[in-house]
Amino acid sequence: MLTTIIYRSHLCHEVPVKALEGMVAAANIRNSNQNVTGILLFNGTHFFQLLEGPDENVRRIYSDIAKDKRHYNLVELLCDHGPTRRFGNVGMELFDLREHAREEVLQAVLSKGTSPYQLTYNDRALQFFRTFVESTEKGNYFEIPPADTWAFIPTEVTDSLGPYKASNAAEYTLALQPIIDPLAQEIIALEALIFTPQGEISDAYFDSLSGEEIYKVDLTSKKVAFEMVKDRNLHGKIVCINLLPMTLVKIPNAVDYLLDEIKLNGLVPEQVVVEFTEHEVVSGIEEFTRAVRALKSAGISVAIDNFGAGFAGLQLLAQFQPDRIKINAELIRDVHKSGPRQAIVQAIIGCCQSLEIVVSALGIEKAEEWMWLESAGISHFQGDLFARPYLEGVPAIAWPEKKGLL
Ligand SMILES: Cc1cc2nc3c(=O)[nH]c(=O)nc-3n(C[C@H](O)[C@H](O)[C@H](O)COP(=O)(O)O)c2cc1C
Repeated sequence: MLTTIIYRSHLCHEVPVKALEGMVAAANIRNSNQNVTGILLFNGTHFFQLLEGPDENVRRIYSDIAKDKRHYNLVELLCDHGPTRRFGNVGMELFDLREHAREEVLQAVLSKGTSPYQLTYNDRALQFFRTFVESTEKGNYFEIPPADTWAFIPTEVTDSLGPYKASNAAEYTLALQPIIDPLAQEIIALEALIFTPQGEISDAYFDSLSGEEIYKVDLTSKKVAFEMVKDRNLHGKIVCINLLPMTLVKIPNAVDYLLDEIKLNGLVPEQVVVEFTEHEVVSGIEEFTRAVRALKSAGISVAIDNFGAGFAGLQLLAQFQPDRIKINAELIRDVHKSGPRQAIVQAIIGCCQSLEIVVSALGIEKAEEWMWLESAGISHFQGDLFARPYLEGVPAIAWPEKKGLL
């Protein structure tokens, strides 16, 4: 299989530009031996490289390049496959943009083309070259500092009330995971999550139920969530609960039930956010939209959970606009290294900005993911980097502290 990978990266400040000559000479030999072509552009600070050749060899070389300490902020822009090579002259070729006019560089790159079909700007790879040479990508290119710029220091758990005892705790228990604004050091909301007594997340518990029972338990577990919030003295906080969309459809008085329980536990509807997962929503969109209207009329906010994980996504946004969306963890995994993920997340942010929908990102595990998303304009986060779900109340939160200021 013929594979093409394109990435961009940043030359480390302490590496002299002169050192590139030796690196290119060595890379030329290695690439030739492995039947790989590397076209490298350099503009004085950034690299842009196309690697093309047999799949295994391209991936091996790319993996070594990614570990190279002479550059950082490496972002993969394209990984594609094709029938024929664009650049047949195996080896390594460096184009220093400071020494040539823009059009010259593009022409020089095109002249290296050996595809039986003339290389044209319709080719995605060539378009990436053009964008880099004309530096029109700058607005989307965030320079994030190294991961160890920040320390994540958990605060003490202040919750001294001991384990929460739900009346039916033998069947399931609840955990709280905060959604935070890390730079403001502020808890934005607490999400109540169902866990099995063995500590497995809700899916495992719901799998053990059948038919309509699922919807009943789904709804009544929210009563336990509100009781827990009352018990933990979290009255002033925003509380996020998860509901299966069909629970609202199958249980006719579900909204009234929620409102009664909210009141009984001394909460107000305005502090409650109901989260729905988009792939479940798609099955009954009309009934669901009606039920959402009832929730909103009562003052409860609505969020789409795991946005980007299912099929409904954009169609759902066109049909009804939630107050919040939470971007799926899979989409933001290693977002700092992936051009496609960055483009998708930026599009979601842009769309939500136009619609005044608050965006938060889920499943943050790495400091770089968080830093990239902050640069892109997100300020609400949930994930193990900051706090894991905690079975007994509000967990310790690892707020980021800039090293050197500690
Ligand atoms: C911007 C940049 C581009 C590189 N391109 C290549 C390349 O095309 N082929 C290659 O073998 N090494 C390339 N290298 C060097 C590799 O990162 C690495 O040093 C080399 O594969 C030797 O790996 P080793 O030191 O682990 O043996 C590049 C390095 C940088 C910083």
